[in-house]
Amino acid sequence: MLLMQLKGVTTRLFEIRDLDEVVRINRQTLPENYSHSFFLSLHHSFPEAFLVAEADGKIVGYVMCRIEEFPGGNGFKKVGHVVSIAVLPGYRRKGIATSLMQRAMEAMREVYGARECYLEVRTTNKPAISLYSKLGLRVVNRIKGYYLDGEDAFIMSKSLT
Ligand code: ACO
Ligand code: ZN
Repeated sequence: MLLMQLKGVTTRLFEIRDLDEVVRINRQTLPENYSHSFFLSLHHSFPEAFLVAEADGKIVGYVMCRIEEFPGGNGFKKVGHVVSIAVLPGYRRKGIATSLMQRAMEAMREVYGARECYLEVRTTNKPAISLYSKLGLRVVNRIKGYYLDGEDAFIMSKSLT
Protein backbone atom coordinates (compact mmCIF):
# COMPACT_ATOMS: atom_id res chain seq x y z
CA MET A 1 0.00 0.00 0.00
CA LEU A 2 1.26 3.49 -0.76
CA LEU A 3 1.92 5.43 2.42
CA MET A 4 1.62 9.15 2.61
CA GLN A 5 4.95 10.85 3.30
CA LEU A 6 4.42 13.59 5.85
CA LYS A 7 6.98 16.32 6.16
CA GLY A 8 8.98 15.93 9.36
CA VAL A 9 6.80 13.10 10.67
CA THR A 10 8.03 9.52 10.99
CA THR A 11 5.66 6.63 11.48
CA ARG A 12 7.27 3.57 13.08
CA LEU A 13 6.56 0.61 15.31
CA PHE A 14 6.00 1.29 19.00
CA GLU A 15 8.96 0.38 21.21
CA ILE A 16 8.87 -0.20 24.96
CA ARG A 17 10.85 3.00 25.59
CA ASP A 18 7.88 4.93 24.10
CA LEU A 19 5.47 3.67 26.77
CA ASP A 20 5.39 6.69 29.09
CA GLU A 21 4.91 9.14 26.22
CA VAL A 22 2.11 7.08 24.69
CA VAL A 23 0.35 6.71 28.05
CA ARG A 24 0.64 10.48 28.54
CA ILE A 25 -0.88 11.21 25.11
CA ASN A 26 -3.72 8.78 25.81
CA ARG A 27 -4.51 10.44 29.16
CA GLN A 28 -4.26 13.92 27.70
CA THR A 29 -6.54 13.30 24.72
CA LEU A 30 -9.09 10.61 25.64
CA PRO A 31 -11.35 9.72 28.57
CA GLU A 32 -10.73 6.00 27.84
CA ASN A 33 -7.47 5.30 29.68
CA TYR A 34 -5.60 2.06 30.24
CA SER A 35 -2.92 0.71 32.52
CA HIS A 36 0.73 0.53 31.43
CA SER A 37 0.41 -3.26 31.38
CA PHE A 38 -2.51 -3.13 28.95
CA PHE A 39 -0.42 -1.14 26.44
CA LEU A 40 2.46 -3.57 26.93
CA SER A 41 0.30 -6.64 26.46
CA LEU A 42 -1.04 -5.35 23.13
CA HIS A 43 2.50 -4.53 22.04
CA HIS A 44 3.61 -8.00 23.10
CA SER A 45 0.82 -9.78 21.22
CA PHE A 46 0.47 -7.58 18.11
CA PRO A 47 3.69 -5.55 17.78
CA GLU A 48 3.22 -4.76 14.07
CA ALA A 49 -0.17 -3.16 14.70
CA PHE A 50 1.02 -0.76 17.43
CA LEU A 51 2.49 2.30 15.78
CA VAL A 52 3.66 5.72 16.80
CA ALA A 53 4.21 8.98 14.92
CA GLU A 54 7.27 10.99 15.81
CA ALA A 55 7.89 14.69 15.10
CA ASP A 56 10.11 17.35 16.65
CA GLY A 57 11.95 14.61 18.58
CA LYS A 58 8.90 13.35 20.46
CA ILE A 59 5.94 11.03 20.07
CA VAL A 60 2.92 12.96 18.77
CA GLY A 61 0.47 10.14 18.05
CA TYR A 62 -0.17 6.42 18.34
CA VAL A 63 -2.50 3.68 17.22
CA MET A 64 -2.83 0.31 18.91
CA CYS A 65 -4.83 -2.69 17.78
CA ARG A 66 -5.80 -6.20 18.75
CA ILE A 67 -6.59 -9.15 16.52
CA GLU A 68 -9.73 -11.00 17.60
CA GLU A 69 -11.32 -14.19 16.31
CA PHE A 70 -15.02 -14.57 15.75
CA PRO A 71 -16.94 -17.66 14.67
CA GLY A 72 -17.95 -17.36 11.02
CA GLY A 73 -17.73 -19.15 7.70
CA ASN A 74 -15.90 -22.44 8.12
CA GLY A 75 -14.40 -21.87 11.53
CA PHE A 76 -13.03 -18.60 12.81
CA LYS A 77 -12.64 -15.26 11.16
CA LYS A 78 -9.81 -12.90 12.21
CA VAL A 79 -10.88 -9.34 12.78
CA GLY A 80 -8.67 -6.36 13.64
CA HIS A 81 -9.89 -4.11 16.45
CA VAL A 82 -8.51 -0.57 16.52
CA VAL A 83 -8.43 -0.17 20.31
CA SER A 84 -7.15 3.40 20.54
CA ILE A 85 -5.76 6.15 18.35
CA ALA A 86 -4.81 9.71 19.21
CA VAL A 87 -2.74 12.60 17.92
CA LEU A 88 -1.56 15.53 20.07
CA PRO A 89 -3.64 18.69 19.52
CA GLY A 90 -0.78 20.73 18.01
CA TYR A 91 -0.21 18.06 15.34
CA ARG A 92 -3.72 17.45 14.06
CA ARG A 93 -5.08 17.93 10.50
CA LYS A 94 -1.72 17.00 8.98
CA GLY A 95 -2.68 13.47 7.97
CA ILE A 96 -0.92 11.79 10.91
CA ALA A 97 -3.92 9.72 12.04
CA THR A 98 -4.63 8.78 8.43
CA SER A 99 -1.09 7.53 8.05
CA LEU A 100 -1.20 5.60 11.36
CA MET A 101 -4.55 4.01 10.44
CA GLN A 102 -3.38 3.04 6.94
CA ARG A 103 -0.28 1.36 8.30
CA ALA A 104 -2.21 -0.38 11.07
CA MET A 105 -4.84 -1.70 8.63
CA GLU A 106 -2.10 -2.92 6.33
CA ALA A 107 -0.39 -4.78 9.21
CA MET A 108 -3.69 -6.25 10.45
CA ARG A 109 -4.34 -7.64 6.98
CA GLU A 110 -0.88 -8.65 5.84
CA VAL A 111 0.86 -9.67 9.07
CA TYR A 112 -2.07 -11.00 11.10
CA GLY A 113 -4.49 -12.13 8.41
CA ALA A 114 -7.44 -9.99 9.52
CA ARG A 115 -10.26 -9.96 6.97
CA GLU A 116 -12.02 -6.99 8.50
CA CYS A 117 -11.28 -4.17 10.91
CA TYR A 118 -13.60 -2.41 13.34
CA LEU A 119 -13.65 0.08 16.19
CA GLU A 120 -15.96 1.90 18.58
CA VAL A 121 -16.25 5.68 18.50
CA ARG A 122 -18.37 8.15 20.46
CA THR A 123 -21.36 9.20 18.38
CA THR A 124 -20.43 12.87 19.01
CA ASN A 125 -16.77 12.48 17.97
CA LYS A 126 -17.07 14.18 14.57
CA PRO A 127 -13.31 14.44 13.83
CA ALA A 128 -12.77 10.72 14.42
CA ILE A 129 -15.92 9.64 12.58
CA SER A 130 -14.94 11.71 9.58
CA LEU A 131 -11.37 10.31 9.67
CA TYR A 132 -12.71 6.75 9.67
CA SER A 133 -15.27 7.51 6.95
CA LYS A 134 -12.51 8.87 4.72
CA LEU A 135 -10.63 5.61 5.25
CA GLY A 136 -13.67 3.61 4.12
CA LEU A 137 -15.07 2.50 7.47
CA ARG A 138 -18.86 2.55 7.73
CA VAL A 139 -21.20 2.68 10.73
CA VAL A 140 -22.62 -0.83 11.18
CA ASN A 141 -24.13 -0.58 14.65
CA ARG A 142 -24.85 1.73 17.57
CA ILE A 143 -24.36 0.59 21.18
CA LYS A 144 -26.45 2.49 23.70
CA GLY A 145 -24.59 3.63 26.81
CA TYR A 146 -21.32 2.00 25.74
CA TYR A 147 -19.09 4.55 27.49
CA LEU A 148 -18.77 4.99 31.27
CA ASP A 149 -20.45 8.41 31.12
CA GLY A 150 -23.43 6.90 29.29
CA GLU A 151 -22.65 8.09 25.77
CA ASP A 152 -23.48 5.80 22.83
CA ALA A 153 -20.86 4.28 20.55
CA PHE A 154 -20.97 3.70 16.83
CA ILE A 155 -19.32 0.53 15.65
CA MET A 156 -17.55 1.28 12.38
CA SER A 157 -16.02 -1.40 10.20
CA LYS A 158 -14.37 -2.09 6.89
CA SER A 159 -13.50 -5.21 4.96
CA LEU A 160 -9.75 -5.68 4.50
CA THR A 161 -10.04 -8.29 1.74
N1 ACO B 1 -13.10 18.15 12.11
C1 ACO B 1 -13.60 17.57 11.00
N2 ACO B 1 -12.96 16.57 10.31
C2 ACO B 1 -11.79 16.16 10.82
C3 ACO B 1 -11.22 16.71 11.99
C4 ACO B 1 -11.92 17.76 12.64
N3 ACO B 1 -11.46 18.35 13.76
N4 ACO B 1 -10.06 16.08 12.25
C5 ACO B 1 -9.89 15.15 11.27
N5 ACO B 1 -10.93 15.20 10.40
C6 ACO B 1 -11.14 14.38 9.20
C7 ACO B 1 -10.90 15.22 7.98
O1 ACO B 1 -11.70 14.69 6.96
C8 ACO B 1 -9.44 14.98 7.73
O2 ACO B 1 -9.04 15.22 6.43
P1 ACO B 1 -8.66 16.75 5.99
O3 ACO B 1 -7.76 17.31 7.05
O4 ACO B 1 -8.00 16.57 4.68
O5 ACO B 1 -9.97 17.48 5.95
C9 ACO B 1 -9.34 13.50 8.02
O6 ACO B 1 -10.19 13.30 9.16
C10 ACO B 1 -7.94 13.01 8.33
O7 ACO B 1 -7.40 13.76 9.39
P2 ACO B 1 -5.95 13.49 9.99
O8 ACO B 1 -5.14 14.74 9.85
O9 ACO B 1 -5.37 12.24 9.42
O10 ACO B 1 -6.34 13.23 11.51
P3 ACO B 1 -5.53 13.78 12.81
O11 ACO B 1 -4.09 13.42 12.70
O12 ACO B 1 -5.87 15.20 13.03
O13 ACO B 1 -6.18 12.89 13.98
C11 ACO B 1 -7.90 12.23 15.53
C12 ACO B 1 -7.59 12.68 14.08
C13 ACO B 1 -7.08 10.99 15.87
C14 ACO B 1 -9.38 11.88 15.62
C15 ACO B 1 -7.53 13.41 16.48
O14 ACO B 1 -8.44 14.45 16.29
C16 ACO B 1 -7.50 13.03 17.97
O15 ACO B 1 -6.48 12.57 18.48
N6 ACO B 1 -8.65 13.24 18.67
C17 ACO B 1 -8.73 12.95 20.10
C18 ACO B 1 -8.65 11.47 20.38
C19 ACO B 1 -9.74 10.69 19.66
O16 ACO B 1 -10.88 11.13 19.57
N7 ACO B 1 -9.40 9.48 19.16
C20 ACO B 1 -10.34 8.57 18.50
C21 ACO B 1 -11.20 7.88 19.52
S1 ACO B 1 -12.02 6.40 18.85
C22 ACO B 1 -10.79 5.20 18.93
O17 ACO B 1 -9.72 5.41 19.47
C23 ACO B 1 -11.06 3.86 18.27
ZN1 ZN C 1 -12.69 -0.97 21.18
